Amino acid sequence: MMMMTRRRNPTSSSSFILLLLLFIVLLPISISVARARPPFACDPTNSATKDLPFCRTNLHFTDRVNDLLGRLTLQEKVSLLVNNAAAVPRLGIKGYEWWSEALHGVSNVGPGTRFGGDFPGATSFPQVITTAASFNESLWEQIGKVVSDEARAMYNGGNAGLTYWSPNVNILRDPRWGRGQETPGEDPVIAGKYAASYVRGLQGSDGGDRLKVAASCKHYTAYDLDNWGGVDRFHFNAKVSKQDLKDTFNIPFKSCVKEGKVASVMCSYNQVNGIPTCADPKLLKDTVRGAWRLNGYVVSDCDSVGVLYESQHYTSTPEQAAALAIKAGLDLDCGPFLAVHTESAVQKGLLNEADVNGALANTIAVQMRLGMFDGEPSDHPYGKLGPKDVCTPANQDLALQAARQGIVLLKNDANVLPLSSRKQRPLAVIGPNSDVTVTMIGNYAGIACGYTTPLQGIGKYTRTIHEPGCADVACANDAQFDRAIEAARRADATVLVMGLDQSIEAEFLDRAGLLLPGRQQELVSKVAAASRGPTILVLMSGGPVDVSFAQNDPRIGAIIWAGYPGQAGGAAIADVLFGAHNPGGKLPMTWYPQDYLNNLPMTTMDMRADSSTNYPGRTYRFYNGPVVYPFGHGLSYTSFEHVVSDAPKVLSVPVEGHHRSNSTLEPGKLVRVSRARCNKLSISVGVDVKNTGSIDGSHTLLVFSSPPGGDWAPQKQLVAFQKVNVRAGGQQRVDVKIHVCKHLSVVDRAGVRRIPIGEHALHIGDAKHAVSLEAQTLGMIKS
Ligand SMILES: *[C@@H]1O[C@H](CO)[C@@H](O)[C@H](O)[C@H]1NC(C)=O
Ligand SMILES: *[C@@H]1O[C@H](CO)[C@@H](O)[C@H](O)[C@H]1NC(C)=O
Repeated sequence: MMMMTRRRNPTSSSSFILLLLLFIVLLPISISVARARPPFACDPTNSATKDLPFCRTNLHFTDRVNDLLGRLTLQEKVSLLVNNAAAVPRLGIKGYEWWSEALHGVSNVGPGTRFGGDFPGATSFPQVITTAASFNESLWEQIGKVVSDEARAMYNGGNAGLTYWSPNVNILRDPRWGRGQETPGEDPVIAGKYAASYVRGLQGSDGGDRLKVAASCKHYTAYDLDNWGGVDRFHFNAKVSKQDLKDTFNIPFKSCVKEGKVASVMCSYNQVNGIPTCADPKLLKDTVRGAWRLNGYVVSDCDSVGVLYESQHYTSTPEQAAALAIKAGLDLDCGPFLAVHTESAVQKGLLNEADVNGALANTIAVQMRLGMFDGEPSDHPYGKLGPKDVCTPANQDLALQAARQGIVLLKNDANVLPLSSRKQRPLAVIGPNSDVTVTMIGNYAGIACGYTTPLQGIGKYTRTIHEPGCADVACANDAQFDRAIEAARRADATVLVMGLDQSIEAEFLDRAGLLLPGRQQELVSKVAAASRGPTILVLMSGGPVDVSFAQNDPRIGAIIWAGYPGQAGGAAIADVLFGAHNPGGKLPMTWYPQDYLNNLPMTTMDMRADSSTNYPGRTYRFYNGPVVYPFGHGLSYTSFEHVVSDAPKVLSVPVEGHHRSNSTLEPGKLVRVSRARCNKLSISVGVDVKNTGSIDGSHTLLVFSSPPGGDWAPQKQLVAFQKVNVRAGGQQRVDVKIHVCKHLSVVDRAGVRRIPIGEHALHIGDAKHAVSLEAQTLGMIKS
């Protein structure tokens, strides 16, 4: 169209030049209308490259990758080893920014994604710790599916990448960790299931080897300290036992790779036992790629190759650092380090070009699986997703559902909740988090489609009086206390929305203690004392808070933990307060008292308690001291009962023997999992769940087992969980399958997984059941 206009105006050369300029200025706009994103590679209009073998979609990915590698010079290869990968114009390949994030919605934390234009925002789901509290695997996958719809739409529009460095599945080992909010909590089984479910949702599970977007499970491994007591993550050497690595820290990553089939794993900043994780061949080559069979790429945390050289002085030259990392199994550097130093590492003979090829084969294969070498992007199966698919009513409704499902009712004395909306007087809404927006989406967030604050949510049910009480969560003074107290006096009921935000817990900011910051506690107690009606405390936080003062205060009738509930958080909180939603969330982490920290350096990684040093141990699996609220705690407006109705009392575990004759092992003995015939070796436990109250509700069955013997074994561990909806007065049968080798096993001090023979006690709420494992040694039949 522009071309025709130009030809019709040959009369004056000045107007021709003007139009030519106009043409040049408008060219990008006309392209963005006709074709949102130009092809990354293999442009069908580029006859010089479109027929090259690496562009041929009928060839195997491996052949296409090898063809491309064969055409690249060493300099070009090296420029592709970093997140900001350079273009290779002579082969028709554009530059690519690998770093995008989508922890709980498309985020603009990475440079690969930006909001604006047709994409002003994206659906902001609750922070992960809140979503984990739903204990709902199908919800986790569904959120991943919606996030990847929006991510693909933004990619098609030129606003985002296809490689997302999410989720964060490190274990929430210490309650002070500033990034605990990003994780699914302290339990390895939940973290593993969350990882697999969310990754399946993001990557799509219907396309075989093809990827909708590529996820990355991070930060491998034993990374859960940001900045505490003068130690930061760039310098921290996590001393971790083989036992803890195998049965705690690595479990979510293994599940992410093996069950979630994730396309990437990110190594961390810290060292593990003296070796930077991004330069440890045992962790990367042998475990992630070897034992777990990662089909994808290993990426560094941002600048971690630079960090291991510059901050940790792990090598004496930068070339050695580059060579070590690539040889250990690192494929992509987030940061410039490998682009700067790899070529000279090869020239100095520290690295072969074949090692570089190996790294690139892993990254380029992922780009091919994403369809980036398939030419016209709008022909891709997800190529038609666009602005209309972002922030849709359905997507935003899922954000609301997720917030509702993640809210945990911690206390509800005398059934103070739900509140009735038919009150004579208004409701007092107090607290520094009572009218917040971005606080609700936590970190690694994007720009939300919109927000409903708690005040707005509550305002849909009843008249309100609003007083923040403190200027911010730091709550440094009591200047606004009197106004808040006065509001509580005038109201029929008081809701205090308190807690934390990113100024208290964040990346690179671990907490010093577990109490509410500043003078928040004093405000809550004073308001509760003055309140004429019931007082309800609502907490926003990622990590646990020691609220024993409120737990013990009879004037505070109810406590709710909302985590960071996402863009619709205020609506969900109001729905719970007024009973439109019956809460069913459960804590994915232990809420410890402040005293717990007395003998607990954040730098001590040990999971197990040690009585000789008064070290208390970590998480419900190994700590048995006092708690404010235990792992798995969460009340409902109805009540549930469960009865184990059907479960085996004895199970025989077939074990490959060293002897020619069959024999039975004594109880207390341990059988190496590698010797057991694990295939299909599971027990089914039938549980009847009865809703004995008068309101419909959802209930999460948490099945724990306590293995026999061994003081190093967990006192109990979660072996299965299942969420069900049960109508008032109704009953539902749940069949829980427990895989014996995976879930009834323990890891010994040497890091070997074994099945304890003898009685395993299963606990499901108050219901108990014992199952005895017997070993049946099978004589080897040798030929
Ligand atoms: C799990 O989440 C999905 C999606 O919100 C919901 O439809 C389903 O009812 C939830 N399951 C239970 C048992 O609450
Ligand atoms: C051991 O028992 C198994 C199953 O009971 C049987 O198949 C196998 O032949 C026996 N082996 C020997 C050496 O008796």
